[in-house]
Amino acid sequence: MYNFDKIIDRENTNAMNTDGYMDYLFAGQDIEISHKKEDLVRMWVADMDFEIAPEILDAIRERLDHGILGYSKIFDPDYYKVVHAWTKRRYGWTFKREHLVSSPGVIPALYELLEYLVKADEKVLILTPSYAFFKHAVDYNHLELVKSDLIAVEGRYEIDFEDVKTKLEDPKVTMAIFCNPHNPTGRVWTEEELRQFGDLCFDNNVTLISDEIHSDLLRKEFQHIPMDKLYPDEKRLITCFAPSKTFNMAGMAISNVVIKDPEIRKIWDARHLTFENPLSVAGAKAAYEKGQDWLDGLIDYLDGNFEFLKDFLDERLPETNFKISEATYLAWVNIAPYVNEDNLTKFFAEKAGVLLEGGNMFVDNSDGYIRLNLAVPRSVLEKGLNRIYDAVK
Ligand SMILES: Cc1ncc(COP(=O)(O)O)c(C=O)c1O
Repeated sequence: MYNFDKIIDRENTNAMNTDGYMDYLFAGQDIEISHKKEDLVRMWVADMDFEIAPEILDAIRERLDHGILGYSKIFDPDYYKVVHAWTKRRYGWTFKREHLVSSPGVIPALYELLEYLVKADEKVLILTPSYAFFKHAVDYNHLELVKSDLIAVEGRYEIDFEDVKTKLEDPKVTMAIFCNPHNPTGRVWTEEELRQFGDLCFDNNVTLISDEIHSDLLRKEFQHIPMDKLYPDEKRLITCFAPSKTFNMAGMAISNVVIKDPEIRKIWDARHLTFENPLSVAGAKAAYEKGQDWLDGLIDYLDGNFEFLKDFLDERLPETNFKISEATYLAWVNIAPYVNEDNLTKFFAEKAGVLLEGGNMFVDNSDGYIRLNLAVPRSVLEKGLNRIYDAVK
């Protein structure tokens, strides 16, 4: 019913994916890419090359046809109802209507929350490797970053709880940003891991932001557990999630933030000055209400892409010892047995004409890895993998 094999030309749409790579991946670097721009295989920024659900497009069209796009916020109680129904059905988790606020993105929300909640001499803990914007949010707010390295046990990453404990016991560490499930390693944390991490935070009076933006993109045999489901009464826990990754609508700039502490919400309401885009609200509501079938099709397709990648690597580059990500459409591949380069992003752009994100872009504890975005038609994936193979063999 939905065609994920379709190749869609994204040139001339102001897409980061096709036009933003120079600034994002190679700022300040001396780089010579011999492939023509339109011939690059793009497997970098975390959006998808798939057309979004027709139900979402219809809802956006309908709102557009109304003809007036004035200042908007989410007043419609049905928005909460459809999000609530989604989280209840999918994760057995709900939250109160008054706890839900919105933001143009999870990243802007992180920047703001750190600004509002962390004092100048305080520190923020993240787990590494990490989505780089966690670090950027800390740096932007001139705070001190504290990193705890995940440990790869036969390619599956685990939290070093002893290290986390020691670091959280520093009274200056007052905030942790946690990625559930985890980008870039693809881990779906178990209930036991979530509890251990949560307990360590709250026992040490650390506010925890759980970034759950990838929560709908799990391999079929996994189940997402929202951190908040385990700590329903914990006011020091803030949850961020969004339709953006799930439904490929990051450009619509709308995300959900659940803030239970009324004092924090008061600060948020006083200082969070943006309005909502009325088209985004219509699209997000339709996504949660009518997007399930499309998402089921997407998950099938992504599972297939992961199998395809695994078969390819096992056969052609077996020393990568690749493990399929438990969640996300991002594959985390240890390419170190085949390439010895600090800047793998540059290496593969120049040598293979493939845009991907090398380990150097994930803060720390990520040398020798590449992150591949598998949310592309299978034919594109195959082309990219052949090019990667040719570049390293
Ligand atoms: C863990 C994580 N958080 C947040 C984002 C981006 O969030 P937003 O587009 O809502 O700002 C991404 C995008 O890749 C991500 O991987």
